[in-house]
Amino acid sequence: MTTLQRPSERDERRSIASRSGSFLLGGDLPVRRLGFGTMRLTGRGIWGEPADHDEAIAVLRRAVALGIDLLDTADSYGPEVAERLIAEALHPYPADLVIATKGGFLRPGPDRWIEDGRPEHLRMACEGSLRRLKLDRIDLYQLHRIDPKVAMEDQIGTLLDLQRQGKIRHIGLSEVSVAQVEAVRRLATVVSVQNRYNLVDRHSEDVLEYCTRESIGFIPWYPLATGNLAKPGGVLARAAERLGAPPASIAVAWLLNKSPVMLPIPGTSSVRHLDENAVAALLALDGSLMTELEELGAAS
Ligand SMILES: NC(=O)c1ccc[n+]([C@@H]2O[C@H](COP(=O)([O-])OP(=O)(O)OC[C@H]3O[C@@H](n4cnc5c(N)ncnc54)[C@H](OP(=O)(O)O)[C@@H]3O)[C@@H](O)[C@H]2O)c1
Repeated sequence: MTTLQRPSERDERRSIASRSGSFLLGGDLPVRRLGFGTMRLTGRGIWGEPADHDEAIAVLRRAVALGIDLLDTADSYGPEVAERLIAEALHPYPADLVIATKGGFLRPGPDRWIEDGRPEHLRMACEGSLRRLKLDRIDLYQLHRIDPKVAMEDQIGTLLDLQRQGKIRHIGLSEVSVAQVEAVRRLATVVSVQNRYNLVDRHSEDVLEYCTRESIGFIPWYPLATGNLAKPGGVLARAAERLGAPPASIAVAWLLNKSPVMLPIPGTSSVRHLDENAVAALLALDGSLMTELEELGAAS
């Protein structure tokens, strides 16, 4: 059975994200499964200030008002801009808010990303994130990429040092293979993996299966295929009409239904789109609709 229950105005706030269920990161850090990604709050090319600063602040406040308590960000978004916006919009933070940031990239210009996993860079990046986010400790610190130019042991060793110093609570990885996660887990406890994954791009299926088996949080980036799955005339148009729900919400609901460790972080610069995406938490998709959507995704 497929159900869409629209919330009353009153219960729309606070409770909507809780309808997506919860997940315990690292066994001690509860988050609601529907999160929010902050990369799209920055300027074009993930560079500089947002086109509409007030709307960016409103989006972050609305995310929290909807009960979202997992925000994904990185020092490299802007760079520095997304982390500053989070602090401006939300500090002092609600007690249950989990800010997951990342380090490991240099940004020489718009749309340019260069891996830098040298220990001195990771230490400096973490200090910068702590300062901008106005935090004493970062709940989830993700290595944005494993830098192939630097020994993996040195990169993870640096994160372990930061953890021992109380600057980060949990360690996460981003864009990794199963073999890489296993190698890192021989050195440190990994609580989350953030890989590209959505209805039309499932190259990380094996990593998702591994995370599901091992109860590691899986944070799919590009959950809307950079917005393509949200388009009115796109692959989800007919399903959207049938369910009376925005196409983007169906793409996110498919993710939420896919695995109990799935923590989608759809990104947007608009309050209207954020509200549409949050409808995902209210959609229960049955097995036959999940299969139908997967066939659509595979055919597109
Ligand atoms: N670990 C990594 O390497 C990595 C890489 C990329 C991203 N990320 C993280 O993953 C998050 C999600 O990825 P993403 O934001 O790039 O991709 P996404 O969520 O797949 O798509 C975002 C795009 O979709 C549009 N959109 C969102 N909701 C919409 C709606 N309801 N209707 C129409 N268009 C909509 C947005 O435009 P509008 O602003 O106009 O809504 C934006 O251009 C990021 O914010 C970031 O935190 C991580």
